[in-house]
Amino acid sequence: MGKILVTGGAGFIGSHTVVELQNAGREVVILDNLSNANEKVLGRIEAITGKAPVFYKADIRDREALEEIFTKEDINAVIHFAGLKAVGESVAKPWEYYENNIGGTLTLVDVMRKHGCKNIIFSSSATVYGNPAFVPITEECPKGQCTNPYGWTKSMLEQILSDIQKADNEWNVILLRYFNPIGAHKSGTIGENPNGIPNNLMPYITQVAVGKLKELGVFGNDYDTHDGTGVRDYIHVVDLAIGHVKALDKISDNPGLKIYNLGTGQGYSVLDIVKNFEEANGVKIPYSIKERRPGDIAECYADASLAKKELGWTAQYGIREMCEDSWRWQKNNPNGYDD
Ligand code: NAD
Ligand code: UD1
Repeated sequence: MGKILVTGGAGFIGSHTVVELQNAGREVVILDNLSNANEKVLGRIEAITGKAPVFYKADIRDREALEEIFTKEDINAVIHFAGLKAVGESVAKPWEYYENNIGGTLTLVDVMRKHGCKNIIFSSSATVYGNPAFVPITEECPKGQCTNPYGWTKSMLEQILSDIQKADNEWNVILLRYFNPIGAHKSGTIGENPNGIPNNLMPYITQVAVGKLKELGVFGNDYDTHDGTGVRDYIHVVDLAIGHVKALDKISDNPGLKIYNLGTGQGYSVLDIVKNFEEANGVKIPYSIKERRPGDIAECYADASLAKKELGWTAQYGIREMCEDSWRWQKNNPNGYDD
């Protein structure tokens, strides 16, 4: 059947996907430069699945390293997570973001085609919809203006991969647009490990809960939503990981170009999340209302019916489990993978 190369496989979503791939009996090769990951995750994946994934510490911009991997390993498809993802940092360092995310993907795709491997699943984001023309967002919703270079790398890479597929129909390209992944594996041994002060809501909440941060700032309570705070479609990272396994099954049918939203279809506000987290875990999350964060939108949630219809995938976990699992990971690993 050939092996699956998972770029960025030591990261948050990548590590959970490697677990689900191995559970499904797939042979996995991880490539990660560890710029935003810790090698210890490999031992934890082994402890969960009973199998150590093959690991290359390498960069997607390093053509020679990619050549070596594609020569040595019988790679049938690539799940491509590797990339930089900090929105604020991308505004300050646009060149680094375009070079890493776009330059890296161009090199990866070139080496893939030279080795006759033309199956790729790409990590895209709901951010490509900009301020969405309508909610719930279907895949037909027009792409919008991104508010930061990170978002543009996703939007541009979608275009680049679509054009490559259009020019050569041996390519199978699946673009997965993730909504807001949170939660962690049930074991509490792998999870999200942000550098410095978290930008995203759930890691901020868990760090308040564990006592590392004093209180949550809620960015705006005057949006046109049920309680005035921003509404998002939070999805359990294990559901997201399983979505990749299903997409991989689909790629064997030579689908050409496919685009799927991966979300639950259910929107929750910032205050809904605080309340659910407090109730699920019996901890208090002090918060205060702050100014709106520039670039934020009022609401964003998916219509994920296409993934259900074509991939046979729907999210299984609810908000309570997402809150419990995020907390279990943080509580057991207050400093992430650092001792
Ligand atoms: P992450 O930072 O945990 O994982 C990305 C991994 O890629 C890291 O392990 C990092 O070390 C590696 N990496 C970065 N640049 C590399 C390079 N040049 N060569 C090799 N490895 C490299 O992030 P994540 O949350 O797991 O996200 C995975 C993918 O999904 C990213 O492409 C991200 O943009 C996308 N995505 C994430 C979210 C989210 O909310 N987490 C939402 C939508 C899309
Ligand atoms: C952000 C990124 C998006 C990226 C996604 C996943 C922006 C503008 N968008 O989406 O490009 O794909 O992360 O990585 O940064 N919130 C607070 N207080 C906090 C943190 C967040 O109130 O300390 C609110 C936000 O205003 C928002 C919600 O919580 O309403 C979710 O925020 P976040 O987790 O950062 O995700 P997004 O903004 O949806």
